Amino acid sequence: MNATIALLPGDGIGPEVISAAERVLRSVATRFGHDFTIASHLIGGMALRAGHPPLPNETREACLAADAVLLGAVGDPAFDTGSSEGRPETALLQLRQALGVFANLRPARVWPGLENGGAFKPERVAGVDMLIVRELIGGIYYGEPRGNDGQSAFNTMRYTRSEIERVAEVAFQSAGDRRGLVTSVDKANVLETSRLWREVVTTVGERYANVTLEHQYVDSCSLLLASSPKQFDVVLSGNLFGDILSDEAGAVVGSLGLLPSASIGGRAGLFEPVHGSAPSIAGQNIANPIGAIASVAMLLRHGLQAVKEADAVEQAISSALSEGCRTSDLVTDQSVTAMSGSAMAEEIVSRIS
Ligand code: IPM
Ligand code: MN
Repeated sequence: MNATIALLPGDGIGPEVISAAERVLRSVATRFGHDFTIASHLIGGMALRAGHPPLPNETREACLAADAVLLGAVGDPAFDTGSSEGRPETALLQLRQALGVFANLRPARVWPGLENGGAFKPERVAGVDMLIVRELIGGIYYGEPRGNDGQSAFNTMRYTRSEIERVAEVAFQSAGDRRGLVTSVDKANVLETSRLWREVVTTVGERYANVTLEHQYVDSCSLLLASSPKQFDVVLSGNLFGDILSDEAGAVVGSLGLLPSASIGGRAGLFEPVHGSAPSIAGQNIANPIGAIASVAMLLRHGLQAVKEADAVEQAISSALSEGCRTSDLVTDQSVTAMSGSAMAEEIVSRIS
């Protein structure tokens, strides 16, 4: 297979986790006989530092022309005081919109060997396997008007029927291939957007006889995600609630550094770890590359329809973890020595077959 893959390392730990992910991509290409054209482009704070806007035209065009886009992270404290337009994060929001990737898939499962790894009781988290389906290019992230005059500030949460419908379809289809349960998250006791959300999701759900639909308020859902995470299969939510709940899912499975994501619905997909740029640990080669490497697996599966290649990458991650490979975020037992991010990547690459 020939495919063009745009890499956007971005800020903070982005470049280190993307260099790990690139090694995995290249090794998949070699082992499975594919020809991947891989090129890196500037985004976020890296672009701003080089005198460009956060999403340079060259980067946008390269992503629109690519078969798949793999991003590290954006976010740089040096630009924290700027307006929205001058912030690194704007690049990601513009890119998601330009690609039309309205559905963000964030799977969260407990890998074998990591049941004891987190803040939660092992029996509570062993077997957790959920998929958060987050609406990605609507809601309060994008609603107009928005503004801040220093005395008051405001944002607009808006959802249209068709925006809700199309992401709900993705959730129900995914649930049909999984355990057949969709938990739709909203705040319908307070918000109009949530009342429309609930009505539209219910209507879409009527077409999926094999899938059960339940509704949860976001506050109650966040409690249940911590207290009984195994009950969740597919969690469907709007943009803001999905952002928050997916970080919580990171804690449940042992580390946010493990979580991958796939943003789909446009021509080319955008694949990125759920974690941010983590500036406090950047450049030390301690960041966990698994979120980025598992995003490569999602890129192969959802972006290039390369299913056996995706399985091989996930199998390699699983085997490295079950054989005890640990980056520092996964170490809870003092007798275990943490390996570097690049050593973890090496362990995973060596297990791809
Ligand atoms: C994420 C991130 C982004 C988001 C930021 C960096 C804009 O937190 O992908 O979860 O809020 O969507
Ligand atoms: Mn987030």
